[in-house]
Amino acid sequence: MGFDTLNEPVPEQAHDPHADLSSVLPMTATIEDGRLRVGGVDMVELAREMGTALYVMDEEHIRHQLREFQKWTTYHWRDVETVYAAKAFMCKAMCRIVHEEGCMVLCASGGELAIALASGVPASRIQVHGNNKTLAEITEAIDARVDRIVVDSVLELERISAIASERGVTQAVLLRVTPGIKPDTHGYIQTGQEDSKFGFGLNHGLAMEGAKRACELPGIDFAGLHMHIGSQIFALQSYSKAIEVMVDFMRQVREETGHTVRDLDVGGGIGIKYGLADEPSTIEEFGKVVVDGIKAECERHGLPVPRILIEPGRAVVANAGITLYAVGVVKELPGIRTYVAVDGGMTDNIRPALYGARYECLVANKAGHPRTEVVTIAGKHCETGDLIARDVHIQPVETGDIIAVCATGAYCHSMSSNYNKQVRPGVVFVRDGQARTVVSRETYDDLMRCDIG
Ligand SMILES: Cc1ncc(COP(=O)(O)O)c(C=O)c1O
Repeated sequence: MGFDTLNEPVPEQAHDPHADLSSVLPMTATIEDGRLRVGGVDMVELAREMGTALYVMDEEHIRHQLREFQKWTTYHWRDVETVYAAKAFMCKAMCRIVHEEGCMVLCASGGELAIALASGVPASRIQVHGNNKTLAEITEAIDARVDRIVVDSVLELERISAIASERGVTQAVLLRVTPGIKPDTHGYIQTGQEDSKFGFGLNHGLAMEGAKRACELPGIDFAGLHMHIGSQIFALQSYSKAIEVMVDFMRQVREETGHTVRDLDVGGGIGIKYGLADEPSTIEEFGKVVVDGIKAECERHGLPVPRILIEPGRAVVANAGITLYAVGVVKELPGIRTYVAVDGGMTDNIRPALYGARYECLVANKAGHPRTEVVTIAGKHCETGDLIARDVHIQPVETGDIIAVCATGAYCHSMSSNYNKQVRPGVVFVRDGQARTVVSRETYDDLMRCDIG
């Protein structure tokens, strides 16, 4: 996927100008007096007050998603832990919400761990992963006393063992295994196939070698196995197939080492609805497939059912978020297309440029009007590929309008950059008619804070 030229065909979209966007908008979104409201807050007023570009997150939606994961997994098995993958969207306020809702936080770097700890989440509710953790990151995680480290290589196992032994502590680890499953998603976000930089492959005994080392190294508690097959996955059979492989590997580990693992972490990846035509599975369906699959496979192999961990990221936050932009230049190229340029772009949402991601959009101050136009929403950066939405259906647009791009709560803020020395937008949480800034908009001083020359 991904588009090299502006003329690569756009996938078929629903063309109904009256189509209801509520399935891709935050759950508290409403349209009143023709204007978009989220969390009881008028998005047009908010944009004017706080400036644009602006990320807006519906706090109720985030909490609802976390509760759904807790509800539908523990409905099927009592011992399930939801570990929110903070890479999807992270700030201190988000970590606190995750903790308040009884979930754990999964960190992918020393920086994420520092933020999670600074938010007040206890280390015992934090897990750490990453395919190439530095020595410093491993040391920080062990010193903080995090709950689990997901291990990607023998080198890491040896480093954890050495550091933990030196400190006289034992560190619980999960061994990340690539089950050899290719899910139905973009190549850049497939991670469970054999040819992957992540984890231990099953071929050539690599994963078994890791398991044996985890059993014998001092300072290591080999708590369990981990997989993460990819992201934005719609077909739940991919999980079922991977679970079969993983539970079979649990059996092999038991047979070859005598060790029975206590945890099985199935990772994240559950898909969400970006476009009206998308039909992701529900959290309820996901919970059932995962838990029933693990139970059935364990029964087949005579293994005790482990504690089950799930690591949703996108599914918690994507539809909770929208990005607001003000429209600047509107350029009509007769017979070609109309470009609507906004005051942000690939710096606050790299996903369209990175993998051709598509979004639904609306004009927040004309939200009650039908979406009768087809335009291309372009960013303000020096790249032709800096497009937010190509050939998208929207209300008639003019300079000064406020555009809301739907489902931008995941992997937009967290993948943002300062290209062109653009300051990053702020993040506002809305709930019960109140808006609170949780991440402030950067300033030019922020851009120069580390530029000490
Ligand atoms: C190990 C791991 N767990 C969980 C996630 C979250 O995935 P998603 O946001 O698709 O649910 C990721 C994302 O890449 C990941 O690498």
